[in-house]
Amino acid sequence: MPIHTNLEKQQFHLTNGQVSYIFHVMKNGHLGHLYYGKALRHRSDFSHLQTYYVATPASCHVYEDDPAFSLETLRQEYPAYGNSDFREPAISVGKDNALNVPDFKYDSFRILEGKPRLEGLPATYTDKASTIQILLKDEFLQAELTLNYTIFQDKPVITRSASLKNYGTENLVIDRMMGASVDFPDKDFIFTHLSGSWSRERHVKERRLEMGNQSISSLRGASSHHHNPFLALKRLEATEHTGEVFGFNFVYSSNFIMQVEVDHYDTARLTVGIHPFGFKWNLLPHEAFQTPEVVMVYSDKGLNGMSQAFHALYRENLIPAQWRKAKRPILINNWEATYFDFNEEKLVKIAKSASELGIELFVLDDGWFGKRNDDTSSLGDWHVDLNKLPNGLESLAKKISNVGMKFGLWFEPEMISPNSELYREHPDWAVGTPHQRTFGRNQLVLDFYRPEIVDYLYEKMSNIIKLTNLSYIKWDMNRNITEAFSRKLAPNEQGEFFHRYILGVYSLYERLTSEFPHVLFESCAGGGGRFDPGMMYYAPQAWTSDDTDAIERLKIQYGTSFAYPIYSMGSHVSAVPNHQTLRTTPLLTRANTAYFGTFGYELDPLTLSEEEREEIKGQIVFYKNHRNLIRDGQFYRLLSPFSNNETAWMVVSQDQSEALVGYYKVLATPNSPKQQTLRLRGLNEAASYSVARSNHAYYGDELMQVGLQLPIEFNGVNGKSAERGGDFQSHVFYLRNIDIGEKNKRME
Ligand code: DGJ
Repeated sequence: MPIHTNLEKQQFHLTNGQVSYIFHVMKNGHLGHLYYGKALRHRSDFSHLQTYYVATPASCHVYEDDPAFSLETLRQEYPAYGNSDFREPAISVGKDNALNVPDFKYDSFRILEGKPRLEGLPATYTDKASTIQILLKDEFLQAELTLNYTIFQDKPVITRSASLKNYGTENLVIDRMMGASVDFPDKDFIFTHLSGSWSRERHVKERRLEMGNQSISSLRGASSHHHNPFLALKRLEATEHTGEVFGFNFVYSSNFIMQVEVDHYDTARLTVGIHPFGFKWNLLPHEAFQTPEVVMVYSDKGLNGMSQAFHALYRENLIPAQWRKAKRPILINNWEATYFDFNEEKLVKIAKSASELGIELFVLDDGWFGKRNDDTSSLGDWHVDLNKLPNGLESLAKKISNVGMKFGLWFEPEMISPNSELYREHPDWAVGTPHQRTFGRNQLVLDFYRPEIVDYLYEKMSNIIKLTNLSYIKWDMNRNITEAFSRKLAPNEQGEFFHRYILGVYSLYERLTSEFPHVLFESCAGGGGRFDPGMMYYAPQAWTSDDTDAIERLKIQYGTSFAYPIYSMGSHVSAVPNHQTLRTTPLLTRANTAYFGTFGYELDPLTLSEEEREEIKGQIVFYKNHRNLIRDGQFYRLLSPFSNNETAWMVVSQDQSEALVGYYKVLATPNSPKQQTLRLRGLNEAASYSVARSNHAYYGDELMQVGLQLPIEFNGVNGKSAERGGDFQSHVFYLRNIDIGEKNKRME
């Protein structure tokens, strides 16, 4: 039983042998936090884990005769403000226009096997877990607060969320309601996050916790390119592969905050939830508000251990079940090949040529609808542009199918161009105040709070799916939301807009994915501007970044792998000079980087030389041979692009029988002084592995302790270059466990 209760002491211990989470009811009826971390052996009473601070003349306290009982210093589960705690709270709710301080007192609990779904929201799902719901009541507010904790049976994972119900007769207003709050006893952590911007998303950033508030957040109406809703608190001594790390991910795709407040006793309060800035939710009598979910991963095997737990969770308990074991098609996307300049003949030629290379899915990107010859028009007009495709979409889809390819289409459902039929008909469908409007990429945002707008898009998209027998949709979102105002919300309801907007987006995703479960969705937001677990619940892969440069992608994919499985990252081989960096990298390196993701191409195959075509055919065969390994394997980061000229990573099958290792060197070093070996991870020590293109077999312990021999780098002498050399070199090695008798036999 992973949830232990001590009814007399009112204590709760969630544990599964990997992680423990312990809390109790304090003497004022609030929930107090006792412990979160590596599994502790269970005992009947954990009261002694409660820590008190000496009362100071400056502190406020709950009881006159107990100055040490100050909420300012007690670790709590879901704190409020204004009640002797001066830190930022998990919840702020009150009666309209009345001064009140939330005072939620323990009422009861309920244990459920499995994990209830969250109405209207994406969330992890499983039968292999136990959930405890703690009910607290505030008699004055006449509100019930439910804290949901789920502990997974076989993973170091706890998920949390909260819901609030108004059981009274007066309106309540929620100003702030976090998914989770955790009070850590000290601040000895490195605050580790994934931040960046368009075309350089999810770079790894680290800073030591210090007294005060430190946070990452988004107020853009999308989880954003700038800060991913992921945060790791890494112990000072922890490394990539050792030590304690607490990882947090918010299953949400809109405004969020992940904040750590270090107080004057050096304790650290983590809060994760919808960003409270601008948020105001009217909770009418008998209504309830549910927060999105927070995933909490504990690792005692460093950052990599944390990532592996996230990957397993998202593979098994977040992406749509039908995609868990399905092979994702190798795709070609026409965006960088043609941009808006195409016609049917050109597209079919590209598809035919790609099909001959072994590519399986043709994706027609932006520009197939309305009169969209550039980005200034037609979003919202989801009917085919007969100037470009005079025979219509159905005919194109058939022709693509005739050349042996599946067909996929790009949509940007949430947007409207002022220069569109839809806008001329429904100017009021756009988000914005009547007197103010800001543009981004010449487009406005549709008000997804309004069900008639969501219905309109559902009709348009589902008709096209049926008409073209569509296999894949790339769902893009190219601008953030400004003037966040809906004409259908009353002035006092505008604080609900952002959350209601994303609920509308989720509802459209929900309808389409349930009606067309065979359609593979790839989420996208100007590249990786909404790469989050909320989207992953519907779309098992996401366009990682608009930056397709193989060297830039090392950082982007390395950072993204902190929380997300590599098989969720759309990664394509594109043309050189690269369209974002103008850098020229070898075709081999472009593929070697893209293999560690859902593989594809983003170039015009008609411009390739015969030699390049042969090389690409080989790449496709290689990926097809290894895509199950990439989908299911354990991922290990070996060398970080953030601190090295080299990057390395590897993926090992769950049974340790095979592995794929990627090694990348950004700048060449002449007569390299470094020992050219790479120490591997995750192999079976006693197993013997053949290494493709090598004459030897190696034991797992040799590969992990001594290392894999890298090809000798020798870049040039007197201007003559070695066969392979120069900048941006890379190698991918395939390792296979062979019979001991086969040792030292050459692998083909
Ligand atoms: C942004 C995406 O990230 C690109 O891949 C492409 O689909 C363009 N939008 C099309 O407008």
